[in-house]
Amino acid sequence: MLTGAVALLAIPACKASVQESFAGNRSDLGPRPAAPVRTDLYNCEGCEGTLERQSANLPAFARIAPDGETGEAMRIEGIVYLPDGLTPAPDVVIYAHHTDATGLYSRGTPETEWSRRHGLLRSWVKTGADGRYGYRTIKPAPYPDMTMPAHVHLMVAEPGRRPYYLDDIVFDGEHGVTDAYRSRMEYRGGNGIVRLVRDGDIWVARRDIVLERHPA
Ligand SMILES: [Fe+2]
Repeated sequence: MLTGAVALLAIPACKASVQESFAGNRSDLGPRPAAPVRTDLYNCEGCEGTLERQSANLPAFARIAPDGETGEAMRIEGIVYLPDGLTPAPDVVIYAHHTDATGLYSRGTPETEWSRRHGLLRSWVKTGADGRYGYRTIKPAPYPDMTMPAHVHLMVAEPGRRPYYLDDIVFDGEHGVTDAYRSRMEYRGGNGIVRLVRDGDIWVARRDIVLERHPA
């Protein structure tokens, strides 16, 4: 599902070091369409973190892990679609956070509950008119107790709407991505299981997102 020609993005040169290209075709979004409205859409621990940055000037592509962070380099990229699964969605804030290469949410800072609990490796982007977003980071590790696959948490906030969480990004074929895991998936925002592909010396995780319909 992640094979195909590399499509270059028309982005400002200043962003080129963070996001250069899309390394695959649209990801498998899971069992769509006709997903019901989730009455529990806003039940979410930590979604307040999505709102900890002013959205006005957020870029579409940003770093999570800083230069020098230990771990394998990884790029996350995707397109956010409206609930029809076809129309790109602009101005959607995406908040991502993940463990470090030892499986810990380490080096949190004291400003807020979520800056403490989510650790250093977190960042915010906002989709452009084409719905695209991306992050440059490192590949997280599973928790030290190995009770979960390695994962990247994603939360979204659409303009004027409350934030909600999506299915985590997890890596197909790796620890914990089992039949049991698949059976528990919610498919929030589509399928979070991605197959990593290689783009030179960096892993690429394509995670397209279909926004959820909002409860009345
Ligand atoms: Fe986690």
